[in-house]
Amino acid sequence: MARMQTLAVHAGTRQPAPACHPVSPPLNQSVAYYYDNMADLDAVFAGEADGYVYSRYGNPTVAAFEQAVAALEGAQEAVAFSSGMAAVHAALLAAGVRSGARVVCATDIYGASYALLAQLFAELAVETTYVDIGNLAAVAAAVQAARPVAILCETLSNPLLKVADIPALADLAREHGALLLVDNTFATPYLYRPLEVGADLVVHSATKYLSGHGDVLAGVVVSSAELAHAMRENQKLLGANLAPQSAWLALRGLRTFWLRVRQQFSGAATIADWLSRHAAIARVNFPGLPLHPQHRLAARLFGAQGYGGMMSFELRGAGQAEVFRFMNALRLVFPATTLGDVFSLALYPAHSSHRRVPAEVRAALGITEGLVRLSVGIEAPEDLIADLVQALEASGLAQE
Ligand SMILES: Cc1ncc(COP(=O)(O)O)c(C=O)c1O
Repeated sequence: MARMQTLAVHAGTRQPAPACHPVSPPLNQSVAYYYDNMADLDAVFAGEADGYVYSRYGNPTVAAFEQAVAALEGAQEAVAFSSGMAAVHAALLAAGVRSGARVVCATDIYGASYALLAQLFAELAVETTYVDIGNLAAVAAAVQAARPVAILCETLSNPLLKVADIPALADLAREHGALLLVDNTFATPYLYRPLEVGADLVVHSATKYLSGHGDVLAGVVVSSAELAHAMRENQKLLGANLAPQSAWLALRGLRTFWLRVRQQFSGAATIADWLSRHAAIARVNFPGLPLHPQHRLAARLFGAQGYGGMMSFELRGAGQAEVFRFMNALRLVFPATTLGDVFSLALYPAHSSHRRVPAEVRAALGITEGLVRLSVGIEAPEDLIADLVQALEASGLAQE
C-alpha cells in the first residue's frame, strides 16, 4: 500500500475509459497522454497512429472545436489558435510568407493585420503592396508587378464594410500562382464560404461571431488537409495553441451560432436602414443598403442570407469630442472593443482597431474622426434604435 503522500498524487488518475459517450464534448485539460504500451505512444509520435501525446501537438477538446468549424466552412480541416491574430500569422506562414517573399494586401483591413505586415513582417524582409481590393484592375496590376506568394483580404472589411469579390480574386490568385487568404470574421460561414469558390486559407477571429459571448479569445484557420498539416507542424514550434478551456467555451458558443447571427444580421439591416434616414448621420457603410457602392456584388455573393451584423456610420460634422460624447451617452450598446457578441457594441476605429494604421492612410481610406463602428447584438432592434436616439439627443447631435 503506497503512502498517503504518494496516494495524494496518484489516486483517481488511472480511470478506465467509460463505455458511455458524453453528449457534450468533455473539457480535456490534460497536457500529456500515456498509453498502455510505449510502442503505441511511439506510433503516435511518428504519425503512424492517431492519438494525443502533448497538448501543443493536439488536444481532444480543441479538435472537437476544429471539427465543428471545418464542418461549418465546408473545409477538409481547421486548425485553432490562441487568437485571431495568431491565426492570421499562421495562415501567412502556411502560404509561404518568408524573408524575400511578397504579399498583396487589401488596404482596408483590420488594423493589426495591416500592422503585422507593414511593421513586423516588413522588418523580416517581407514586402507588402497595399491595394484597394474593390478595384480588380488595380489588384491585377499589383499581383503582376509583385508576383506575391499570397493575397490577403477580408470578405467584409473592418471597419468600412467593403465587399471583396472572392471568386474573382481566387481566379486571379490561381492564375499567378499565389494563395488567396480570406479573413471571413465579419461575413461568417452563414453568409459566405470562401473555400468553395477557390480561396486557399480562411481565417477567423473566433473571438467574434463563432464564439459569440465575449468570453473567449480564439482564432481558427480552415483549409485543405495539406495546408492544415503545415500549420500544425508550425504550431508545434510556435506554440500559439488554443487552450482547451477556451476551445470548450468556443464550441459551446458555436452551438447557437446560426440562431445568433440570423437575429444579428436581420437586426443590423433594420438599424442600418433607420440610420441611413437620420439627419444626424452623414453616411452609413452597410452592404445591404442599395446606396452602398458594392450592394450588387454583396447581393450576388451572399444571396438571401443578409449582409452581416456590422456597420459603420459617420456622425455629421463630428470630431473625436462629439463621438466620445455620443458613445458616453449610450445606455444599452457597450462602447467596447470587440464585435460579433450577443450584446451590441460600438467602437471608435480611429483610436482602437485602426490606431496603428498611419493617420494619412486612415484619412485616405475614409476612417474619419467622426466614424463609429457598430456591431449589432441579438437584442430587440427597437430597443437598440431607442438607445441610439437617446444618445444622439443627449450628446447634442440631434434635436429632441
Ligand atoms: C477582421 C478581424 N480579423 C482578425 C482580428 C484579430 O482577432 P483577435 O482579436 O481574436 O486576435 C480581428 C479583431 O478584431 C478582426 O476584427
